[in-house]
Amino acid sequence: MTVSTCVSAAKNGRILIVGATGFIGRFVAEASLDAGQPTYVLIRPGPLDPSKADIIKSLKDRGAIILHGVISDKALMEKLLREHEIEVVISAVGGTTILDQIILVEAIQAVGTIKRFLPSEFGHDVDRADPVEPGLTMYLEKRQVRRCVEKSGVPYTYICCNSIASWPYFDNKHPSEVLPPLDQFQIYGDGSVKAYFIDGADIGKFTMKTVDDIRTMNKNVHFRPPSNLYDINGLASLWEKKIGRTLPRVTITEDDLLTIAAENRIPESIVASFTHDIFIKGCQVNFPVDGPHDVEIGTLYPEESFRTLDECFNDFLLKLEDEQELEKNKVSTKTTAVVEPRAVTATCA
Ligand SMILES: NC(=O)c1ccc[n+]([C@@H]2O[C@H](COP(=O)([O-])OP(=O)(O)OC[C@H]3O[C@@H](n4cnc5c(N)ncnc54)[C@H](OP(=O)(O)O)[C@@H]3O)[C@@H](O)[C@H]2O)c1
Repeated sequence: MTVSTCVSAAKNGRILIVGATGFIGRFVAEASLDAGQPTYVLIRPGPLDPSKADIIKSLKDRGAIILHGVISDKALMEKLLREHEIEVVISAVGGTTILDQIILVEAIQAVGTIKRFLPSEFGHDVDRADPVEPGLTMYLEKRQVRRCVEKSGVPYTYICCNSIASWPYFDNKHPSEVLPPLDQFQIYGDGSVKAYFIDGADIGKFTMKTVDDIRTMNKNVHFRPPSNLYDINGLASLWEKKIGRTLPRVTITEDDLLTIAAENRIPESIVASFTHDIFIKGCQVNFPVDGPHDVEIGTLYPEESFRTLDECFNDFLLKLEDEQELEKNKVSTKTTAVVEPRAVTATCA
């Protein structure tokens, strides 16, 4: 099917994004605004920490319409969806509130005019991936939401975007907020199992492309750009090239990851179980994208490119240089601060 033959499910329809103050939801909300869609964001009522208040202000300044509520309030959700004539709902709620989406689905079903629902997926194909606990519990919940969406008859799209572009620390929930290592690399197993690393902005951009595309209706959309497929040894070499030096490599074995997962520390053990699934079992690459409900994003939008991992790692390098500059300034301010009081003391004496 060519792009010209695809029927728009909701061209320029009103989009409601749940979880826009979160890590993934913010990328989606920004992409929705970039795409010029009428963008509504649902914010939980109550006190906000300053960083979340800043995110809301920046989305609002760019034209987002702020609504207040929680998705577990069915009557309120029905009212908001009707009043604002929402056509597409995208949820990016975090791991602890996945099941709240069941009530949201009930509200969407009751309203009856929503043309597409994207539940909070944004990772692996949860019907295929099979991590050990405690990651499995999250997948069981995501699977439960999928079954509920399918039963509701509401058109849906599942975004299987794989990993965020970053160094995949086994104990860090949002590794792309942290620089790749500067002391040593921890290599999972023999470091040869591949995975896809996608820039956050591209997760948002390509998610938005799917919402009014008939070809993604009731489909799992897999993100598999060849330029972003790396194993952990390759990732380490890429970063070494950027920083201009080599770092020691330490092996984290399959047993190490399973032991950390079994400790059941949240979120570290969840991340360790996903790390095991990705870099030992190969859950992103051990199946072909050829089922009746599968579609690969590159085949849908061949004219659109993904930011390569090489480019994403350049961003980390810039961040590193900024941090080093800041540190240098701090040291020089500290030095000045030490000198000044002495001078004052001397004058006073
Ligand atoms: N592929 C990857 O590498 C990757 C990485 C991270 C996450 N993910 C996936 O992306 C999805 C989002 O995770 P995240 O880490 O971005 O989540 P997050 O940072 O914890 O953010 C969750 C967002 O949902 C909002 N929220 C939670 N419960 C809500 C409710 N009942 N009603 C309304 N809003 C609610 C939160 O609001 P408040 O601001 O009020 O808390 C916040 O804005 C998950 O499915 C996760 O598995 C994928």
